[in-house]
Amino acid sequence: MAIHYQQEEGIFTLHTKHSTYQMKVDAFGFLLHLYYGGRINGSMDYLLTYYDRGFSGNPSNAGQDRNYSMDVQPQEYPVMGTGDFRNTALILRNEEGIVGCDLRYVSHKISQGKYGLKGLPAVYASEDEAQTLEILLEDSVSGVQVQLLYGVLEQEDIITRSVRITNHGNGSIMVEKAASACLDFLSGDYDLLSFWGRHAMERNLQRREIVHGSHVIGSRRGTSSHQYNPAVILAGKGATEDYGNCYGLVFVYSGNFMCEAEKDQFEQTRVLMGLHSDLLHYPLGEGESLVIPETILSFTDKGLGELSLQFHRCIRDHICRGKYRDQPRPVLLNSWEASYFHFSGESICKLAEHAAALGMDMVVMDDGWFGKRDDDNSGLGDWQVNERKLGCTLGEMAERIHGLGVKFGIWIEPEMVSEDSELYRQHPDWAFQIPGRTPIRSRNQLVLDFSREEVRGFIFDRICEVLDQGAIEYVKWDMNRSIAEVYSAENAPGRAAYDYVLGVYDFLEKLLQRYPDILIEGCSGGGGRFDAGMMYYTPQIWCSDNTDAVDRIRIQYGTSFLYPISTVGSHVSAVPNHQTGRSTSLHTRGVVAMAGTFGYELDPAKLTEEEKEEVKEQIRKYKRHAELIRKGDYYRLSNPFKDAYAAWEFLSEDGSRVLLHVVMLEIHGNMPVNYVKLKGLKRDALYEDGGTGKRYYGCALMEAGMPMPMVSGEYAACEVELIMVQEADAD
Ligand code: GLA
Repeated sequence: MAIHYQQEEGIFTLHTKHSTYQMKVDAFGFLLHLYYGGRINGSMDYLLTYYDRGFSGNPSNAGQDRNYSMDVQPQEYPVMGTGDFRNTALILRNEEGIVGCDLRYVSHKISQGKYGLKGLPAVYASEDEAQTLEILLEDSVSGVQVQLLYGVLEQEDIITRSVRITNHGNGSIMVEKAASACLDFLSGDYDLLSFWGRHAMERNLQRREIVHGSHVIGSRRGTSSHQYNPAVILAGKGATEDYGNCYGLVFVYSGNFMCEAEKDQFEQTRVLMGLHSDLLHYPLGEGESLVIPETILSFTDKGLGELSLQFHRCIRDHICRGKYRDQPRPVLLNSWEASYFHFSGESICKLAEHAAALGMDMVVMDDGWFGKRDDDNSGLGDWQVNERKLGCTLGEMAERIHGLGVKFGIWIEPEMVSEDSELYRQHPDWAFQIPGRTPIRSRNQLVLDFSREEVRGFIFDRICEVLDQGAIEYVKWDMNRSIAEVYSAENAPGRAAYDYVLGVYDFLEKLLQRYPDILIEGCSGGGGRFDAGMMYYTPQIWCSDNTDAVDRIRIQYGTSFLYPISTVGSHVSAVPNHQTGRSTSLHTRGVVAMAGTFGYELDPAKLTEEEKEEVKEQIRKYKRHAELIRKGDYYRLSNPFKDAYAAWEFLSEDGSRVLLHVVMLEIHGNMPVNYVKLKGLKRDALYEDGGTGKRYYGCALMEAGMPMPMVSGEYAACEVELIMVQEADAD
C-alpha cells in the first residue's frame, strides 16, 4: 500500500520506493503539510511549532491561543483569506467581489489505480501500478468544495497532484488564481532551476537561490511558451548532478501557467505550480467545476541526474501514449529547410526517392501544400490541397511515395487563420479578436477560437478530409504565434484561455481516436509548446527551430532535465546552418541529432556522393541504437554552458550496452586531454570498446573516466560504443 491513513492522528502518508509525502488534518480541520523528502517512518507532526507571531492572524477556532496562525503553518492547499499572507494556491471571489475562503477537511477516499482528468492530459497507470487519494475540503460559508487529488506511482517515485473546484453554493464565484501543487518546507535553503529561452533558443538552464520575496516564472502567451518552460526543479543548496536533494515539478498543461517560489519571514520555503492568474477569471455557476491541470512531483536524494531519470521514465511510460510510445520512430526527411514554401508534388516525390535510396523511412511535406500558401502571409484555415501547386492530388502523391517504400507525412497548423484566407473572409468572428479593436498580428496570422466547438469541429472535418485522401502516416502539428487577445465571441473572457487549451486537447484526442496509427509530432515554432501536456497526444515534439548542432547541444541539454529523449524532435540540417550561419561536420550534426528522434531537414540532392554514404551509415547506426536511445537511461556527463566539451551517455536498462557521445566545444593548440567519466555502469562488469577492442571495468570508467582522443577542427564529435563482456570479476 502506497497510501496510509492514521485515523487517530489524522495523518495521510504517501510512500514511494524512495520518498515519503505526509500531511495531517489538525484539530481545527486544516490540512497541514508535514513532509516531502527521503523515505521516513512515523509521524512528522512533531515538526510543527506554535509561537505567537506578530501580525500573523489567528483563526477563531484557536480562541485565545495566539500561537496558531495560517501565516506560519505549512499547508497542503493554502487559500487567500485565511490569514496566510504568503503566495496562495487559490483565490476565489464571490459575486459581491469579496475574497474569502476557509477550507476544512470533510472526508477522503483511497482507491486503487490512478485518477484521470476529463478533457485534460494526466499521468496514467494500471490498477496495480498506482493508488489515488482524494481529499475533500469545504468552505462552509460559500459552499465551495475543493477536491485534492493525489496519484502515487510507488515504483516510479512519482506523486501527482490535481485539484477540482466545485461551486455548491448559491450564486456564482470567480476563480482568480488556482494552483494544483503547493510544497511548503519548514526549513532549508533551496535553489530554483528553471528553463528560460526564446524562439530558436529554448530551455536554457537558470539556477537561482530562493531568497526572501517571490520568484515567479510563467506564460501569458496562451501556450506553455519558448520563454519559460512549465517545469522546474527545487534543489537543495549544493545539490549537483550526482548528489543532493532535488524535487521536480512538471505541469501537465500547454497553456498559461505560473510557478512561484518564495522564502517567507521565518525562512520557510513555498513553491506553487498552477494556472497563471493574469487572464484567469473563471466563473463557476452553481454546481459547476473547474479542474486545475496536474502537476507531477518527484523527489530524489541522488542529485539532478537521478531526478531526470525519474521524470524520463514517468513521461515516456505514463504520459506518452499510442502505438509509437513503444515503437521505433521513423527516420524522416522534412521538406522545410530543403525547400521552404517552394516545392511541387514532383519535388517532394524526388525527396522521397532520395529518402528511399538513403535508407530513411518517411518524407514529410511541410508548410505550403494547401490553400493559397506560397509564403507565410496567407492561406491558413483553408485546408484544401493545392493541387495546382502540387501538380497532382494528394492521393496520387501518397501512392507514388508509398510505392517507393517510404511513408508520407504532412504539416498542419489547425489553430490558425490568415486574414487572407477564404475561412477568414467567411468567418471573421472565429478568430480571437476584441470587438472595437484592431487585431494584434504575429507572423501575419490570427488565432482561431478553439474554445468553441463549432470552430474546431469545422477545422477537424477539413483536416480529416485531407488525411482521408491518402494514407497519411504522420502529422506535424504546428502553432506559430502567441495568443495576444483572448476574446471569444461565445465564452466569457476570463475562461477563454483555459477553454482554448482544452479545445486543442479535445481536437487532438478526436484525431488520435480516428487515426490511431498516425504519429503526431508537436511543434510551436520549434519548442514553444514543449510540455508534458502535449506529450500525452504527441509522443515527440520538434525541439527547436534551431537546427545548428552547437546550439542544439545546449537546447537539448536543458530539455533533458525533465523530458525524455524519446520526445525530442531533432534533425540533421545543411551547412552553413540556416539559423546561425555556422558550419559543423556532418558527423557532428549526426551525433547531435541522434540524441532525439533523428531525421533530416535538407535537400539530399545537394549532398556529395561521399556525404550520401555517410548519411546511409548514420541511419544504419541510428537504427541499431534506436531502442537504446529511446528507452535507455540518459546521463548528462558535462555542462555544455561551462565545459570545453559536451558529453552524454545512453545506457541500456540492464546496464550491458553503452553509447557515449562527445562533442568538443573548444579547440586550442596543444590541448589537454579530456577524461570523460561515465555513469550508471555496473561497477564490477567488464566493458569492451566496440571501436578499439579495449576493455575497461565499469568502476574505472566511472571513477577515472575515459581519455578522449585528440581531435582537430572545430566541434569534432566522437562516439564510443561499449558492450558488457563480463558481468562480474571472475576472481
Ligand atoms: C514553424 C516550424 C517549422 C516549419 C515552419 C513552417 O516555424 O517550427 O519547422 O514547420 O513553421 O511554416
